[in-house]
Amino acid sequence: MAKKRIIETNEGIQGELTVEIFNNFARNMRDKGWNNVDSIIKVGITKGNVLEIGPGPGYVGLEWLKRSPDATLTGCEISRNMIRLAEKNVHDYGFESRAKYVEGNCMQMPLPNSSFDAVFSNGSLHEWEDPIKVFNEIDRVLKPGGLFCVTDMRRDVSPIIKWMIYASTKPKEIRPGFLSSLNAAYTILEITNFLSRSNLKDADIQSAFFGLCISGKKG
Ligand SMILES: C[S@@+](CC[C@H](N)C(=O)[O-])C[C@H]1O[C@@H](n2cnc3c(N)ncnc32)[C@H](O)[C@@H]1O
Repeated sequence: MAKKRIIETNEGIQGELTVEIFNNFARNMRDKGWNNVDSIIKVGITKGNVLEIGPGPGYVGLEWLKRSPDATLTGCEISRNMIRLAEKNVHDYGFESRAKYVEGNCMQMPLPNSSFDAVFSNGSLHEWEDPIKVFNEIDRVLKPGGLFCVTDMRRDVSPIIKWMIYASTKPKEIRPGFLSSLNAAYTILEITNFLSRSNLKDADIQSAFFGLCISGKKG
């Protein structure tokens, strides 16, 4: 049975220094190919006008754009400092004409109804205070038939896997933050319950080696 959840909000990574350390961590994950881009593509999200929730420094979306030449990307991110980093990274990837970021809280996104062909998010769910509100927001901004894919870590992993990931997390300064994120992550059971009370009730939930993947299509 998983330990009780310990809340972590986005406030933990707002500062300029923490954001810079997170950027190094996310770049490392990108370089190892551990960023769930395969899951997003496997769900069928490969083209159109696509929204990323909680892009942080942007590597997941930018790597996905690299493999999805017929797509454009909008990121909805709550932290101004993260957006600053993501915009710099967009420039380094040469994707200025295909990616942009809006500052906003995903529980109430400053984006119109039925405006996206697909929505994805990686590693942000554990920071959402009210996942049901965000699931309903995903449903609201998606066009009919639009696809979604939300990936994150899960709290109900085995202690051995937890230790393996902890020990391979770099830079070392991020390890305490990694543990607090894992302690804040939702279990498969909790997510199943949230989805059943949201407008995404037909979503599929897959339990992965270290995390979870929620996916589906708006009816
Ligand atoms: C752990 S980072 C993951 C960043 C990136 N998706 C990745 O996989 O590397 C989580 C991101 O979600 C953002 N976030 C957390 N809560 C949010 C909210 N309510 N609305 C929008 N963004 C949020 C944080 O500011 C942060 O950039």
